[in-house]
Amino acid sequence: MKAIVCTEYGGPQVLQLHEIEKPVAKNNEILIRIHAASVNFGDRMARNFKAITPRQFNMPFLFWLMTKISFGLRQPKITVLGSEFAGEIEAAGRDVKRFKPGDQVFGYPGLSFGAYAEYLCLPEDGVLAIKPANMTYEEAAVAPYGAIMALNLLRRVNIQPGQKVLVNGASGGIGSAALQLAKYFGAEVTGVCAAPRLEFVKSLGADKVIDYTKEDFTQNGETYDLIFDILGKSSFSRCKSSLKPNGIHLFASFKLKQLLQMLWTSMSGGRKVICALAPGSVEDLNSIKELIEAGKIKAIIDRCYPMEQAAEAHRYVEEGHKKGNVVISMD
Ligand SMILES: NC(=O)c1ccc[n+]([C@@H]2O[C@H](COP(=O)([O-])OP(=O)(O)OC[C@H]3O[C@@H](n4cnc5c(N)ncnc54)[C@H](OP(=O)(O)O)[C@@H]3O)[C@@H](O)[C@H]2O)c1
Repeated sequence: MKAIVCTEYGGPQVLQLHEIEKPVAKNNEILIRIHAASVNFGDRMARNFKAITPRQFNMPFLFWLMTKISFGLRQPKITVLGSEFAGEIEAAGRDVKRFKPGDQVFGYPGLSFGAYAEYLCLPEDGVLAIKPANMTYEEAAVAPYGAIMALNLLRRVNIQPGQKVLVNGASGGIGSAALQLAKYFGAEVTGVCAAPRLEFVKSLGADKVIDYTKEDFTQNGETYDLIFDILGKSSFSRCKSSLKPNGIHLFASFKLKQLLQMLWTSMSGGRKVICALAPGSVEDLNSIKELIEAGKIKAIIDRCYPMEQAAEAHRYVEEGHKKGNVVISMD
C-alpha cells in the first residue's frame, strides 16, 4: 500500500510517499481503507519533535520528556503520521462486534498515529465511530481531534447557557470546535486569533472576534465566566480582572506554574484556574457525530492535498496560511 513515511525528523520535506506492507487485522481489529486524514497540531509536532525544546513545548517538562522518549530521541519511532481520519472498513477480525465491512467510519488514533496511509488497523474499541451521514470523508477526517478535546474540556468546567466565554486560539483545531460547542451550549462567545482568520472565526458563529496582534483582550474592560486558553498564551495574573468573580481560566496547554495556580485557587474561593487533559473517548466521538448530524457543529476545509503532496500540505499549515482545516486525501 502507499503511505506517507518519515524516517527522520525535520521540515515538511521529510514526508515521502513510499510503498509499505499492507497491515492485516488481528482478531479484535478492523482494517480501514483510509480516504482522508488531516494536518493537525500533533502531526506537525511529531514530524519535527527533535527540534522542540522543553520551553517550546506547551506542557510541563515531564510531559516533554515522556513524549521525547515515546516519539524517539534521534529518529522518529512513529514513521507514519496522521492522528485523525475518515474511511471505510474493508475487513473485520473474527471477534469484532461493533463494526462490519462496508461501514464508513471516522476516528482518532491520536498519538499512535498511522492514518497517512491507504490502510490502517485499529482495535474495535479504539476512538472510532460511524461517520456522520451529512459529511464527506474529507470533512469527517478533520472533525474528531478538536471536537472531542473541546467537548470534554467544556463539560469538565460545566459550561452553562448565558455565560460569557472567550476562546483564546479560536481558529485552530481545538479552538474552532470549542467556539461552536460553546455556542451550542448557549454561551455568548468571543474568539481570539490573528487577522487572517478573523472571518473564519466569525463564520463559525463568534459573537465577537479579537485580533491578538492588535488588541490585548485583558485590557478592554470585558469580563468573562470562562476564558478557555488553547495554547496557554495568556497568564492568570493578567486575566484575573477579565474574569467574573467566580470565573474560570481553563488551560488546554499548561506548565507547572498553571498547575500550582490550579492547586492554589482550588483551596480558595473566587476565580479558578483549571488545567485539564482530555483523554479522547468513543463516548465523546459519538456525541460529536450526533451534534454534526443535528447541524450544531461543522468542519471547514481550507485546502485538500493528494497524498503525493503531503509535504506541501504541511508546508502550507506551517507557514501560517491555514483558515480552517487542511486535508490529505488518500483517494
Ligand atoms: N488538554 C488536552 O487534553 C490537549 C489535547 C490535545 C492538544 N492539547 C494542546 O493543544 C494545543 C494545540 O491546540 P490546537 O490543535 O487547537 O492548535 P492549532 O490548531 O495550532 O491552533 C492554535 C490556535 O492558537 C492561536 N494562537 C497562536 N498564537 C497565539 C497567541 N499568541 N495568542 C492567542 N492565540 C494564539 C492560533 O491563531 P492564529 O492561527 O490565527 O495565529 C490558533 O487559533 C497544544 O498546545 C497541545 O499541547 C491539549
